[in-house]
Amino acid sequence: LAGDQVLVVSNREPYIHIDTPAGIEVRRPASGLVTAVEAVMRACSGTWIAHGGGSADRQTVDRHDHVRVPPDNPSYTLRRVWLSKEEERGYYYGFANEGIWPLCHIAHVRPVFRTSDWDRYVEVNQRFAEAVISEARSDDPVVLVQDYHFALLPRMVREVLPRATIITFWHIPWPNSESFGICPWREQILDGLLGSTILGFHTPFHRKNFLDSVDRYLEARIETEASTISYGGALTQVENYPISIAWPESDDSDNLPVAEVRARVRNALALAPNCLLGIGVDRLDYTKGIIERFQAIERMLELSPGMVGKFTFVQIAAPSRSSLEEYQAFEVRVRALAQRINLRFGRPGYLPIVLKAAYHDQQQLQQFYRAADVCMVTSLHDGMNLVAKEFIAARNDESGVLILSQFTGASRELHEALLINPYHVEEGANALLRALTMPAIEQRERMRSMRSLVRNFNVYRWAGHMLRDAARLRQRERVMSK
Ligand code: G6P
Repeated sequence: LAGDQVLVVSNREPYIHIDTPAGIEVRRPASGLVTAVEAVMRACSGTWIAHGGGSADRQTVDRHDHVRVPPDNPSYTLRRVWLSKEEERGYYYGFANEGIWPLCHIAHVRPVFRTSDWDRYVEVNQRFAEAVISEARSDDPVVLVQDYHFALLPRMVREVLPRATIITFWHIPWPNSESFGICPWREQILDGLLGSTILGFHTPFHRKNFLDSVDRYLEARIETEASTISYGGALTQVENYPISIAWPESDDSDNLPVAEVRARVRNALALAPNCLLGIGVDRLDYTKGIIERFQAIERMLELSPGMVGKFTFVQIAAPSRSSLEEYQAFEVRVRALAQRINLRFGRPGYLPIVLKAAYHDQQQLQQFYRAADVCMVTSLHDGMNLVAKEFIAARNDESGVLILSQFTGASRELHEALLINPYHVEEGANALLRALTMPAIEQRERMRSMRSLVRNFNVYRWAGHMLRDAARLRQRERVMSK
């Protein structure tokens, strides 16, 4: 693909400019998608098209709505698309996050399907498709479409640029066909996605669920062996590409030694120097299993009273989609449960759960990852979950234990984590106790093996595999059209 133009489309932008009393500040959003795609964009330049949602976003673009990023070392272009409040409400909050998000995660929150939201979703997909077309310098760019906000865009782009190579990656799970079928616009969504040249999921399960959904709701020919779908005279390759992180370049230069970080973090939290520390890092989202995690902690303290006063869990919870009722209610439940557990097991100078419901930047997160004895990832359902991989990458001391939900894509790769069913509180409690008492040598063995896996299967491999497959298909097409 050397020399080809690369265009990325996502809802969330990688850099958000915000007005503050101290002037304009730049923020990185809490989004696994952005973390991963940004690493790739830095390496291959190109143009990233996304919603300009920051209060100072308009002030920082040129007359083409372009801004060069990253701000400290510009290497690619961010093209911002502006949405009205109504468009944002219908397309983003409504159809994407009250409809598709619960539909695909099956976390027992009922999806809401409003026709007015769907209409905005169609319109906004059209607006982004137009942005792609206007940015294209040739009739065959490589377009990388990200996530459930843009299920219709691949088809819309394909209609205008039939020779484009469109690679769509679905960052969240794909449900079984039965569950997917409740969506009133299921055929349109499948049809939209099949405008892609390549459609990627994190795991073979999600890929298979997608093939089953197409089989059930569209008139298409599916080649299961080859994992292709032929529909409307065109072929879509459906693959799994597990996403990852950029492995830290030099293991130590930016980092203080773990022993020092442990002491600093404990000191800042006013914990005893030898206090065992657990960490959770999530958006405040009902799919992340934060309630179940706290219940497991409570049960562990119940089963092992000796841990009371010796173990503290820090939950970092970045506020997310907080104008939606479901998210507000979830925050209330999380706070109430933390408080109840703290009242039950806390005492002067000691809290079992410290809830930090605020955004933390990557550097702050690194400190917590490095200071912790255990990291808990207990999603009820998750496409991949990059927190698990970030924790592993941060532990160059080869210690620390990862507790990981078996319902994350990450659990398909990280076999050396303590895998649990987050719905089973007893199992979570036992895993936590096991983690807190695990001999150093076993921690090292597990951590080593997971580190070598994440180092090898990093985000560049993820992107590399997709682009390699795309290059092959392009090559084949060029040969055939001669
Ligand atoms: C998930 C989605 C991303 C999204 C992120 C943060 O990881 O797959 O597309 O960016 O959540 O959510 P937000 O709604 O804040 O962008």
